[in-house]
Amino acid sequence: MPQPPVNVATLRKMKADGEPIACLTAYDASYAVLVDAAGTDLVLVGDSLGMVILGYDTSVPVTVDDIIYHSKAVARGLRRPFLVADMPFMSYTEPGQALDNAVRLMQEGGAMMIKLEGGDGQLEIVEHLAKHDIPVCAHIGLKPQSVHKIGGFRVQGREPEKAKAMIESAKRLQDAGADIVLLECIPNEVGEAITSALEVPVIGIGAGPHVDGQILVLYDVLDITQGRTPRFVQNFQQGHTSPLDALAAYVKAVKDGSYPAPEHCFS
Ligand code: KIV
Repeated sequence: MPQPPVNVATLRKMKADGEPIACLTAYDASYAVLVDAAGTDLVLVGDSLGMVILGYDTSVPVTVDDIIYHSKAVARGLRRPFLVADMPFMSYTEPGQALDNAVRLMQEGGAMMIKLEGGDGQLEIVEHLAKHDIPVCAHIGLKPQSVHKIGGFRVQGREPEKAKAMIESAKRLQDAGADIVLLECIPNEVGEAITSALEVPVIGIGAGPHVDGQILVLYDVLDITQGRTPRFVQNFQQGHTSPLDALAAYVKAVKDGSYPAPEHCFS
């Protein structure tokens, strides 16, 4: 019996019921079919495609057209999961431009929600999009689009005052209209504090086990990424013969709480 498609209300109910939300990135129709078949609840067409698909060193060169191209393909392969698309670098510097690009991701790319990186600096943009009924996922903690400003991919919010500021910022993003908050590369304790402070679902990547859902880059889960992977990555292909089995093992591990294990976390 096919399950009904996931929507924002489903995700809120999952948070309320304490049912972990299993999320993955995807970039094409074939993998979208597998990710869906594995039981994933939310699929992100992330600007990580700049690295894993296009071979750049960072997500900075990714364009709105790149995201639309891949989102269209993913949308064709999905039936049940909720589809989110990333707003790439510099595509949301002012409200009008952000709205135009978000509308393109939804109308041309088939996205049901857009994701943008930023804390307090993006409150006006989040409010503007929310005012126009654009569902928004706000991505805080490590923001890969700011890699050249930060000086590397490193854990954020370790210092008490920075952790406190991040928690307050997450609340302001929710108040501005964010429907999901995504936390990247932060200590467990900060992930837990933000998750209990917010009514909207909180998805983590390297944010510990006490969040409402987990997301990983598809290619990391399948051990396609070459070179050094972040601490929070688990290779689910190991011990499985097909990509579908590996993806189903990831979903199961998120649902039963065995991923992330302590070795994937920062505290
Ligand atoms: O671009 C991406 O894939 C992301 C995830 C790492 C959350 O933002």
